Amino acid sequence: MSLGRASGKAILLGEHFVVYGAPALAVPLKARCVEVELDFASPDWDVPELCRPLLEKMLLLLGLKPTETSLRVSGDLPLGQGLGGSAALAVALLRSLGYTDERELQERAHALERLSHGEPSGIDDTVVSWERPVYFIKGQGAQVLAPCDGFRLWVATTGDKGSTKEAVANAARWRRKNPIDFHTMNERATELVDGARIDLESGAFEELGDKMSENHGLLRQLGVSTPTLDRLVSRAIDAGAWGAKLTGAGLGGAIIALAPEGCDLSNVLLESGAQEVIAP
Ligand code: PMV
Repeated sequence: MSLGRASGKAILLGEHFVVYGAPALAVPLKARCVEVELDFASPDWDVPELCRPLLEKMLLLLGLKPTETSLRVSGDLPLGQGLGGSAALAVALLRSLGYTDERELQERAHALERLSHGEPSGIDDTVVSWERPVYFIKGQGAQVLAPCDGFRLWVATTGDKGSTKEAVANAARWRRKNPIDFHTMNERATELVDGARIDLESGAFEELGDKMSENHGLLRQLGVSTPTLDRLVSRAIDAGAWGAKLTGAGLGGAIIALAPEGCDLSNVLLESGAQEVIAP
């Protein structure tokens, strides 16, 4: 029996626009992980139904027969919530097979991610396999970042399963219908991410929060937010967060909020409909 573990991730800014060449920032969510136990002794699966079809495809792509594999998936990372569940499954599975080199892990995880996303930008598999905060540009790779002390990120899931494929398709449709507006938004997303990178590393968290909230506005305009996500974002800000936004593909999933020390968002987020709150 071999064990592989991988933590989740949160996209800090730039999701969706990253698919069209804008940069994005992402951080690992080390508080939550997925564990995969792999064995070839007796075929026996103990995995959440939600990820069974994906895991079967992943094994086949890795040259393994699902019927000859015993697989157990556990962990506390909420799946289908825009927190890197599919990338974490891929990396945990690869680690259970003995892959350790982070570049190789990322490349292989990217191939596995294509099974669920089609044409992923690569930000999820990069941050999950590297387990470090990154500034990422599709096709150009990533640079590791060092957030300043005091970076306190809250995560709240809605429990609504967002489909990345559907959200990316919605964004693509919006872009086709509104090419000029999309171009302007993509430029603005680029400015926000480039500024946020400096804020993150210099500790200008109030400014970083403002940029996150503005980024949420762009994602709303793109049609990938929901009333629940909007409500969680605005309640977090009303309760003292420096900024908040949806994270990941949207259409469900989770929000993130950046808040000063001493600002506890748990109750307000749970009372506003969050299914689960992950405190910093
Ligand atoms: O699958 P999620 O929810 O972690 O989101 C992926 C991020 C997108 O920018 C929406 C898609 C991509 O390939 O980068």
